[in-house]
Amino acid sequence: MSALERLGLAALTRFDPETAHGLALRALRTGLGPSDGPVSTPRLSTQIAGLRLPNPVGLAAGFDKNAEALAPLAKTGFGFLEVGAATPLPQPGNPRPRLFRLTEDRAAINRFGFNNDGAEAIAARLAARPKGTVIGLNLGANKTSEDRAGDFARVLATCGAHVDFATVNVSSPNTEKLRDLQGAAALEALLAGVMDARAALATPIPVFLKIAPDMDAAGLADIAAVAKSSGIHAIIATNTTLSRDGLASAHRDEAGGLSGAPLFERSTRVLAQLSQLTAGAIPLIGVGGVDSAEAAYAKIRAGASAVQLYTALVYGGISLASEIAQGLDTLLARDGFSTVAEAVGTGREDWL
Ligand code: FNR
Repeated sequence: MSALERLGLAALTRFDPETAHGLALRALRTGLGPSDGPVSTPRLSTQIAGLRLPNPVGLAAGFDKNAEALAPLAKTGFGFLEVGAATPLPQPGNPRPRLFRLTEDRAAINRFGFNNDGAEAIAARLAARPKGTVIGLNLGANKTSEDRAGDFARVLATCGAHVDFATVNVSSPNTEKLRDLQGAAALEALLAGVMDARAALATPIPVFLKIAPDMDAAGLADIAAVAKSSGIHAIIATNTTLSRDGLASAHRDEAGGLSGAPLFERSTRVLAQLSQLTAGAIPLIGVGGVDSAEAAYAKIRAGASAVQLYTALVYGGISLASEIAQGLDTLLARDGFSTVAEAVGTGREDWL
């Protein structure tokens, strides 16, 4: 991290976390972020669901909910970006405060509840996106919708022409009963609708499914089976957790989803279980507590073809993306892997 970034991060801690995040996005938009572009080496460059990535370190959904900082984010070190969640209609989300720093735990709790400008406004921004960077959109459902399952297909129909992949997010804990859509029958019907919307696009894009870390073995087996039968192209594991195990920070009992370091082990175990259940049939993206090259490497060895992060940026700054990609290259070389793909799943047993 540069001295300037360190100063900037220190200044941001004086503001409440949501205001600080808005300021960080504004700083990025005014050109204050890194601009060297993604780190890439032959070892780091990889593919997922047919998408070519310069490196496997992605930005997780929720950081740029409204696709307002696409051009500056494309110049940071990330190998791919996921923006959103977008819902069909704009909605304000839950009342503030709804984002909390858990500094001692290197974590955050959020209960935003899909605040966003709506699919049409977001589609207009995505239409003006920078080319040459893989950009995906996280799909959500409106709180008051009478057809939540149909909302995912609607957002895809509105925005799908402008993105490289779309993620069905039935795993946010902050929209009441949304996670019920992860049940086998409901998920099957929902994904069928999304796959129909995908087929109707002039250029069908890969569809990913993002899951919660709070499922038992039977629930995960159902997800793996439905994922395979529906024809989706990757699974993102995981979203935030409702668990509060082992936290020390004052805000630990706030309602919402917990992200960051305390989520690492739980989400990596889910990832390894899914890797075993899907046996290479569906690529996996590992998310949850990635804050270093070692953590990214552990996710890859547990079964992830790529990783994403968000919360660690609050503590480590946006330059963490290139630091992790560079460090990952060194770790892969140290262990004799000539590509990321070779390392995928090689340490799965450690997490089962
Ligand atoms: C999120 N996350 C999230 N995920 C998603 O699928 N759609 C969303 O809109 C959001 N919004 C969101 C807001 C905030 C403030 C946070 C902290 C997180 C979840 C995120 O993409 C990721 O899955 C988890 O945060 C775990 O990764 P990290 O943060 O531990 O790296």
